Amino acid sequence: MNILVTGGAGYIGSHTCVSLIESGHTVTVMDNLCNSKVETIDKIELITGKKVTFYNIDVTNESEVDRIFSKHDFDAIIHFAGLKSVGESVSKPLDYYYNNLLGTIVVCRVSLKYGVKRFVFSSSATVYGDNESPFVETMKLLPAANPYGETKAMCERILMDMVKANSGYSVTLLRYFNPIGAHESGLIGELPNGIPNNLMPYITQVAKGKLEKLKIFGNDYPTADGTGVRDYIHVMDLAEGHVVAVEKMKDGLQIYNLGTGKGTSVLQLVNVFEEVNGIRVPYEITDRRPGDIAECYADAGKAESELGWKARQTIRDMVRDSWRFEQNL
Ligand code: NAD
Ligand code: UFG
Repeated sequence: MNILVTGGAGYIGSHTCVSLIESGHTVTVMDNLCNSKVETIDKIELITGKKVTFYNIDVTNESEVDRIFSKHDFDAIIHFAGLKSVGESVSKPLDYYYNNLLGTIVVCRVSLKYGVKRFVFSSSATVYGDNESPFVETMKLLPAANPYGETKAMCERILMDMVKANSGYSVTLLRYFNPIGAHESGLIGELPNGIPNNLMPYITQVAKGKLEKLKIFGNDYPTADGTGVRDYIHVMDLAEGHVVAVEKMKDGLQIYNLGTGKGTSVLQLVNVFEEVNGIRVPYEITDRRPGDIAECYADAGKAESELGWKARQTIRDMVRDSWRFEQNL
């Protein structure tokens, strides 16, 4: 297939481009590089040995997006482009609603105009809100704790309405759990701007000595060791989930969790990181982070039974690959 990947220079998008190309697809990337670097495109080409067509374009700019669609004959779109920092979304909610909603609406409108009938959307486990884990696709969604999460829930609803109104279209909503790890080459990985918000890049930067110590946000949650539990998934497993999802699209709306179904606590992740990589990660316990929930892990059964996809890599693989990437920077 000829696939448009918006946000393809970013963390999950770049790994997905590698998996798509290695599965025989052709990839065109549209990214405005607001949270990524153009060199990542060169790295995708280096890993795969294939050319990637790249456009430095903002997906909220409808005439520019239209111009690219008019030059290509896309079979499918995977829409990653969006802002994703939870904390920033609280201080700059309008930027988040503007970018994430408008970007999605523009890409949908242009895809309708050009008859590109397959649309895969990057959603998030955050749309389940404070439901009890494991999260199942059929659960009633609860309000997200921040504007970023709300943009994901709103985009889901926009896409549901769009597919209802346009027969013959296929929309797949992929709800990711917590991607960590990096491509085994160590050439691409997660490159956060400034001080990381997320746990794994914070751990690797502490291990490297760029940051002094990890702050563990609370050890009084109702979990086995009191620290928060998440469903960490290797980014290459997540990437392969996209390949399968786009190859097996059906008419109408599909929703899949992409997670492992297993929860790991912050302390467990730190301990495995130290053991596998033979390096210490100094930490201190601090207050809970506002908006965090105790536990978040997937019921991953639907993607396995309907798509035949299952995450394969372990936490040990994930911490090894994250650390390899950090060391290469
Ligand atoms: P990322 O920031 O690394 O990648 C997003 C890419 O989109 C970046 O390259 C950025 O430059 C680009 N972008 C943003 N706004 C754009 C615009 N208006 N026009 C063109 N390009 C634009 O983030 P990621 O971790 O790869 O996440 C990809 C998607 O998955 C996002 O939509 C994110 O919300 C979603 N998601 C991520 C996680 C996670 O933990 N990483 C979890 C759930 C969902
Ligand atoms: N944590 C710390 N210290 C840190 C960072 C995180 O203790 O410096 C803890 C958090 O409290 C939480 C766990 O590590 O218990 C994971 O936190 P992350 O910030 O890495 O991830 P979140 O689960 O908060 O959120 C991530 C993405 C969201 C996405 C969500 C669900 O940032 O965009 O996963 O997929 F919506």
